[in-house]
Amino acid sequence: MTDSLATVSYIGATILFILSLGGLANPETARRGNLFGMIGMAIAVLATILGPRVTAAGIPWIVGALVVGGAIGLIAAKKVQMTQMPELVALMHSLVGLAACLVGFASYVDTSTVFATPAEKAIHEVEIYLGILIGAVTFSGSIIAFGKLSGRIGGKPLLLPGRHLMNLAGLLVVLWFGIVFVKAPSIDAGMMPLIIMTVIALLFGVHMVMAIGGADMPVVVSMLNSYSGWAAAATGFMLSNDLLIVVGALVGSSGAILSYIMCRAMNRNFISVIAGGFGTGGGAPAAAGGAAQPAGEVSPISAVETAELLREAKSVIIVPGYGMAVAQAQHTVYEITKFLREKGVNVRFGIHPVAGRMPGHMNVLLAEAKVPYDIVMEMDEINDDFPATDVTMVIGANDIVNPAAQDDPTSPIAGMPVLEVWKAKTSIVMKRSMASGYAGVDNPLFYKENNRMLFGDAKKMLDEVQAALKA
Ligand code: TAP
Repeated sequence: MTDSLATVSYIGATILFILSLGGLANPETARRGNLFGMIGMAIAVLATILGPRVTAAGIPWIVGALVVGGAIGLIAAKKVQMTQMPELVALMHSLVGLAACLVGFASYVDTSTVFATPAEKAIHEVEIYLGILIGAVTFSGSIIAFGKLSGRIGGKPLLLPGRHLMNLAGLLVVLWFGIVFVKAPSIDAGMMPLIIMTVIALLFGVHMVMAIGGADMPVVVSMLNSYSGWAAAATGFMLSNDLLIVVGALVGSSGAILSYIMCRAMNRNFISVIAGGFGTGGGAPAAAGGAAQPAGEVSPISAVETAELLREAKSVIIVPGYGMAVAQAQHTVYEITKFLREKGVNVRFGIHPVAGRMPGHMNVLLAEAKVPYDIVMEMDEINDDFPATDVTMVIGANDIVNPAAQDDPTSPIAGMPVLEVWKAKTSIVMKRSMASGYAGVDNPLFYKENNRMLFGDAKKMLDEVQAALKA
């Protein structure tokens, strides 16, 4: 393949990647977006392998690596549960970081490149230094994020005394060794500062993510996504590969925008997320951070009573959360929705931006169950409609419907926008126990007078509700 054909292919791939990102912004066009991405990547890989920079002797190596890597990726993607997706994504980000580090070291010891001026050489070395720096932080940070998300490492933030000072000192040392590295007279002399910086960057990645509590992990995953993009862009600079620079920048900036949107959805300040120390990780019934303990009694409800309430309702809003994903209850949810809509009930879905465990988690599940898009509303679109609603059904959601976010300034999730389900005539919360959600905070919604608790696995309870509705 000639140089110009490779360039044209790269431009084509870039356009396809941009169209892919555009398509992924909407559930209706997401499939097409994925297809564009896949075609773009196939063109990019083929243009690189057949392009002028790969010699014939290198092709078997690349094909061998593609087969091994592709097989591992295929098996992992087939085996992974939808709820484990963020873990897999974190692991994938770590590989991008590792690749940036390895390319950086290889590029440094490669003596085949001839530089026209000392300035050109210095720029190349700065690219290497920055590429390895971002890559190492991404690599170790993503490994820790994987550990936290998969429960192998506890969700509690690790807050070392003087941690901000420690980070600042690390940054200064990295800057100092950067100067030593660029001024180094030989590759041997430059290797030591490069290795020291890599070790500091690895430790920084570990420290940064260890300090972040469970509740902020979604932001961290998308932030690491952004870092992995910048690591790829840095690799592109090191290899003088324009496509990698463009794609890296696309991933880097879209990850940064997603982090910003998530911060807004959780009413968190990006800097305070990075500074860490928020959230305790979920699971056990807990009231973290000295928040007020909700008081009172909960009122349980049976599946048959739930069916009666639904049958009498004129308008129903369903709020799905992580528990619906765990129970795989989305198909039954839609069966019930169809039944009620046929009876003239206005049924809609309220989706919180961070419901579940990954962006768009609920939208994907509802789309899989073939729920029409026009009844699936974003939180901002539906929040004002709760007071005019007869029944809200909260299916395996907890943090995203917690009124403490609005009422209790001492709550760890204070200020996070939530779906105001308690404003409906009756709210029904479907979950197995009184356990807290991901953020590990107790939920006063359960104790409200107009709230009922339908205890049990969401799929099992919804099957019972459906049977009672049809009886
Ligand atoms: P959570 O607050 O985590 O609550 C989910 C609830 O589902 C739990 O309280 C659990 O209670 C219940 N549950 C679990 N399995 C169930 C089953 N089989 N049947 C019925 N209920 C079940 O979820 P949410 O309301 O969707 O909020 C999401 C949380 O995750 C937020 O704190 C968010 O910040 C965080 N997060 C979000 C993301 C993204 S990007 N979406 C990524 C990571 C973390 P029981 O154990 O009592 O059943």
